[in-house]
Amino acid sequence: MQQERGQWSGRLGFILAAAGSAIGLGNLWKFPYVTHQNEGGAFVLIYIAAVVLVGFPIMAAEVIVGRRARRSPVGAFLKLGTDRPGGRLWAGLGFLGVTAGFIILSYYSVVAGWTLHYVLMSIQGELAVLARDATALQDHFLNEFLASGPKQIGYHLVFMAATVSAVFFGVKKGIERVAKVLMPLLFAIILFLVIYSTTTSGFGDAMRFLFRPNFGDLEASSILEAVGQAFFSLSLGMGAMLTYGSYMQRKSSIPRSVTEICILDSMMGILACVIMFSIIFTFDLEITQSATILFTTLPTVLVQLPLGSIVLGLFFVLVAFAALTSTVSLMEVVSSYAIDELGWNRRFATVAMGVVIGAFGILSALSLGASETLSRLNLFGKDSTVGLFSSFDYLAANWLLPVGGLLVAIFVGWIMAARDIEDELAEGHGRLGWIGPLIRQSLRYVAPLAVGAILFSIIFLGAEYQ
Ligand code: TRP
Repeated sequence: MQQERGQWSGRLGFILAAAGSAIGLGNLWKFPYVTHQNEGGAFVLIYIAAVVLVGFPIMAAEVIVGRRARRSPVGAFLKLGTDRPGGRLWAGLGFLGVTAGFIILSYYSVVAGWTLHYVLMSIQGELAVLARDATALQDHFLNEFLASGPKQIGYHLVFMAATVSAVFFGVKKGIERVAKVLMPLLFAIILFLVIYSTTTSGFGDAMRFLFRPNFGDLEASSILEAVGQAFFSLSLGMGAMLTYGSYMQRKSSIPRSVTEICILDSMMGILACVIMFSIIFTFDLEITQSATILFTTLPTVLVQLPLGSIVLGLFFVLVAFAALTSTVSLMEVVSSYAIDELGWNRRFATVAMGVVIGAFGILSALSLGASETLSRLNLFGKDSTVGLFSSFDYLAANWLLPVGGLLVAIFVGWIMAARDIEDELAEGHGRLGWIGPLIRQSLRYVAPLAVGAILFSIIFLGAEYQ
């Protein structure tokens, strides 16, 4: 614990790293999917409201706790909670986050490994050939690639190694540097794909679907779904933003940074919709909840478009980059626990934890080989109770994250002193005005109610989110 704690070099480093954590499969696939299921435009507006009313305050809450305590989630709640109601019990909330990070990373890295396989196949020119025959690609993905234990384990471990390498070099020299290289490239690829999608015949329909809200078609459950999606997409509820916040400089403004991260993340989701719907409407695709259609159906239609094989390759590079900056943040939550609470040095902590998580993830990688799992695999989706892999996903997204988020909101809104919250928000920002009370009141009432309603509907109505 005597080591010097890392810090971001400035506000940009924090914003890019945090946006890197937030932007992932949740934006590129899940958001277009739920938007499609919920009739487009009206849902996008509700989603934005959910980000503002629930996502923004909870992210601010995590960053406040992190920067004030300057410790991993476990130490942070211990430090700030000990003298308050609930006392040392609050450390349990930190453990919940570290455990969730451990579990999510172990299977997220398996899926992330798939993108490496596709990037490799595009470079070798194999993907474009396979994609010209829908059954061949499907057969390759489901029966050959997913069923191959060695391949699943191999790509998963390569992705874990990449993740560990970034975290190994520390906050500034590792995580921040990776984010500063990958995030601009990610923005450039997205921009290229958006411009490209304007040339497809489905672009007009996509814009109408997205930006002409029709509230008549909206169901009440869409509101809860929007909150759930905002939550997942912003990486909330497990201490990732708390940990990144713990490296934030005092001279940086929390309200401003959190606003920018929310805007970047939402923009990426909306731009992903523009790209996806243009393709969906061009080819009149039937879309399912399963993220596996990114690896089966999408390539077969993309390859038919002009420049298809290049666009295809770029698309998987995009997903791989988005995934890497997310796995890095998951790894950092676990590493920071070992560094801050167990007193290990960063390099040892990261390699040791990386090996344990990598080994644990092999269980998920292998569970994909079971044939009934294959046909029903539904990443971040409704049938996700099949197989070990999807049980982890189900447990994390439906339980650990919402419970974690609810408790963080309660901790900052009800347990911490109002003065402390306002001090932390004002530090590096200057005069707060109405922002301070707004965030605090949202954390006391709006956020717990919204997240509580999600949990209620999962428990009593059997609903599932993410
Ligand atoms: N936000 C990520 C995405 O949109 C997924 C995610 C959820 C996540 N919780 C996280 C990533 C915590 C890192 C840390 O895909």
